[in-house]
Amino acid sequence: MSERNRRPRLTHCRPTKPTQDGPRVGAGGHYESLVQKAVVTGGAGFIGSHLCDALVERGVDVIVIDDLSTGHRSNLAHLQDHPRVTVHELSLPVAQTELVPLFRGASHVFHLAALADIVPSIERPLDYVRTNVDGTLAALEAARAAAVPRFLYAASSSCYGIPEQYPTREDAPCRPAYPYALTKYLGEQAVSHWGRVYGLHTTCLRLFNVYGPRSRTTGTYGAMFGVFLAQKLAGQPYTVVGDGEQSRDFTYVSDVVDAFLAASAHPNGGDVFNVGTGCPTTVNRITEILGGPRVHIPKRPGEPDRTHADVDRIATVLGWRARIDIETGIAHLLAEIDGFRDAPVWTPETITDATRSWFRYLGGSSGVDAA
Ligand SMILES: NC(=O)c1ccc[n+]([C@@H]2O[C@H](COP(=O)([O-])OP(=O)(O)OC[C@H]3O[C@@H](n4cnc5c(N)ncnc54)[C@H](O)[C@@H]3O)[C@@H](O)[C@H]2O)c1
Repeated sequence: MSERNRRPRLTHCRPTKPTQDGPRVGAGGHYESLVQKAVVTGGAGFIGSHLCDALVERGVDVIVIDDLSTGHRSNLAHLQDHPRVTVHELSLPVAQTELVPLFRGASHVFHLAALADIVPSIERPLDYVRTNVDGTLAALEAARAAAVPRFLYAASSSCYGIPEQYPTREDAPCRPAYPYALTKYLGEQAVSHWGRVYGLHTTCLRLFNVYGPRSRTTGTYGAMFGVFLAQKLAGQPYTVVGDGEQSRDFTYVSDVVDAFLAASAHPNGGDVFNVGTGCPTTVNRITEILGGPRVHIPKRPGEPDRTHADVDRIATVLGWRARIDIETGIAHLLAEIDGFRDAPVWTPETITDATRSWFRYLGGSSGVDAA
């Protein structure tokens, strides 16, 4: 098996017990699915490209729609000449006349295309509305017109803002605190609405802090692992926000792919599930595992001290649970650290510059979480 397809060993973190009647677990320990032909929007991105790998491994025909704005052709380079994969460089929303023919004959749409960085969402909210809301509506309408039976949406745990309860259940109040979170939540609402009104079979997965090889490292200051790995490669200290005792429910990308596969076989439409490990890890612990010095930078206004998924629902209904613990996931990430050589190396000074809008607009009451 190639390096790319090798998966880390199973997690010791087993917070929930899956039921017997969830989907089958395949020989390799991964979920099998009922997908025959899939449209994967955002398939050249971090999570989307791993999902494409898993689908192709299962003999599924995959139509990728991606505008390569934050994704990369290189994420799919190994599938470039694969007879089951076609890549369409399109920026959602596009006219239905362009989209519907691509959706025809598909059994599932996995809608992952989105703009996903926080700071630019504060600076350019309308771009985020166009991609994350209008783009989702365009995908829903194409699925409806092409009679694609199942629609799965990559929703975000950022919808919870700063939750009142940990672990946070799916029925906790949603209080998106910045435009990225809002637009992802509006997209989720649209997906559920299309399910109710038009009978589309929908499932929304609220993903918690996904990490793994190929994770997005645009020029924008963002997801913690990309920042830390580039700093490690450059021999620079890790820029830890606040005292570093805040924790996040870091979820390894193969577990997220398994959650999509498990959901693809779910008999009931209209569900929303948290996808996390249920075992948060502090940022200080992450730097200990990575090894190397750290420097502390100011705590940002309104950041939650913890993200922590309650995963009872997805374990009970889909039989899914996270399998990769943080030590194992990081070991696997470090084995592929070369993929982060081109990522920007952030310093306390450049972060101060890059997060000005954050402090300016979100001071006081928000629930921002870039870690
Ligand atoms: N990574 C996480 O921790 C996380 C957490 C919660 C939710 N999500 C959601 O999961 C999905 C995938 O996230 P990711 O981390 O892989 O990010 P990513 O940026 O790597 O992937 C997004 C992909 O969508 C494509 N895209 C962006 N705008 C588009 C448009 N208008 N038309 C077509 N394609 C477009 C990008 O080029 C990219 O390939 C997103 O919907 C994101 O909101 C991610």
